[in-house]
Amino acid sequence: MGVPRIITIDGPAASGKSTLGARLAQALGYLYFDTGVMYRAVTWVALQRQLEIADEAAITRLAEQLAIDVQPPSHADGRAYDVLADGQDVTWEIRRPEVDANVSPVSVYAGVRAALSAQQRRIGLRGNVVMVGRDIGTVVLPEADLKIYLEASAEERARRRYLELIGRGEAADYDHILTGIHRRDQIDSTRAVAPLRAASDAILLDSDKLDADQVLQYVQALVNTVQEPGE
Ligand code: CDP
Repeated sequence: MGVPRIITIDGPAASGKSTLGARLAQALGYLYFDTGVMYRAVTWVALQRQLEIADEAAITRLAEQLAIDVQPPSHADGRAYDVLADGQDVTWEIRRPEVDANVSPVSVYAGVRAALSAQQRRIGLRGNVVMVGRDIGTVVLPEADLKIYLEASAEERARRRYLELIGRGEAADYDHILTGIHRRDQIDSTRAVAPLRAASDAILLDSDKLDADQVLQYVQALVNTVQEPGE
């Protein structure tokens, strides 16, 4: 019996997808790919260039032209990887509050999604990958061997994001974060193209009552029971 070659993790903001994805990929020796960084990179560059976020044509053109790359970490400053946008290191910039506030509207645009998900699919189909996002099990890699949908209450997710920001020495306001999470969930799950939802064959996990170690153990147990297609 072989381990699944393509694993997807979807779920709402701050549900623990990145933590699980990174640790699972490391345990399996797989590539970890967080698709959120691509939407964030487009959003950051759009803000830098002072494009109107409401200008769908301009934002779509940017997504089609911007070269986004994820590379092994060049600095030991807590980053898991480098994110490059046209060669520029934007690893920390894409985590800024103004990106949080604008990334969901950018992610609504069909042309943006088409440009980014084509790149994600190409990377995913090479296999030995844990790919994380909102629409990976439903749209980007529907043929994945194992699909996880990770949930947690908005309050718990806001608490985690708050602690993450404080841990990085940044200013954080719990109520503001909670409002932002509700807003992003609302936009992400009601958009016409590739809305946030669990694939019908995804395994649902509620991380409210499970810590990061327990979630990882649970998914590792699943990995060992899934058979690769054709075996
Ligand atoms: O880290 P967090 O869960 O807060 O967000 P993220 O995974 O970095 O994704 C940021 C935003 O990008 C999401 O709120 C979505 O609007 C968008 N996104 C998406 O539409 N599709 C994906 N596959 C990944 C992210």
